[in-house]
Amino acid sequence: MELRFAVGRGTLVLLQGDITRESTDAIANAANSGFLGGGGVDGAIHRAAGRGLLEACREAKKSLPGGRLRTGGTIITPGFSLKARHVIHCVGPIYGEVGGDDARLLASCYFEALRLCRENGLESIAFPSISTGVHGYPVEEAAPIALGEVKRALELGDRPREVRFALFDAGTFAAYEEAARRLFGAPS
Ligand code: APR
Repeated sequence: MELRFAVGRGTLVLLQGDITRESTDAIANAANSGFLGGGGVDGAIHRAAGRGLLEACREAKKSLPGGRLRTGGTIITPGFSLKARHVIHCVGPIYGEVGGDDARLLASCYFEALRLCRENGLESIAFPSISTGVHGYPVEEAAPIALGEVKRALELGDRPREVRFALFDAGTFAAYEEAARRLFGAPS
């Protein structure tokens, strides 16, 4: 199941599936501040990428203040055994535990990841639904925030041209479809 929306000079694609199968220039990871893998999509990406990704994260961690990636922050690494050339690791907020700053910090993950695409000349990126799993963000609240940042980026510039959301279950897909229809009208 795939829905395509024309947005600015690019395309938003919503699909139900496993992000590790995406062959976009980059895939985004819903990481944690410790930045050495974990469960959920973080675990799936590390399993599919192989040990090289963990080594790259260990190396990148050395340049982080206190060895931790801040909430709302992102870091780009190679994709190793993944089809995607790069992984952009994002630390989404743990819902209700960031002093009321949930929306701004979630938006920051998408804004920073899309900025990294622009800076690295990446044509395409696939996102999971950041923070709506273990981090407890209600998906009906998260989807419009995520797609609002995608709208801004696709209307702004020429990179990325395609932004995909690999959504893991029907409920999450439905929430993003509703938010996308509200923001962009009917799919093409
Ligand atoms: N492909 C796409 N989406 C996936 C996949 C996958 N292979 N596996 C899980 N998901 C979905 C979940 O169903 C959820 O909709 O990704 C979304 C985000 O859920 P989590 O992976 O739990 O991420 P998050 O809520 O941001 O919590 C991050 O969980 O796994 C740990 O190390 C991770 O500490 C970090 C925290």
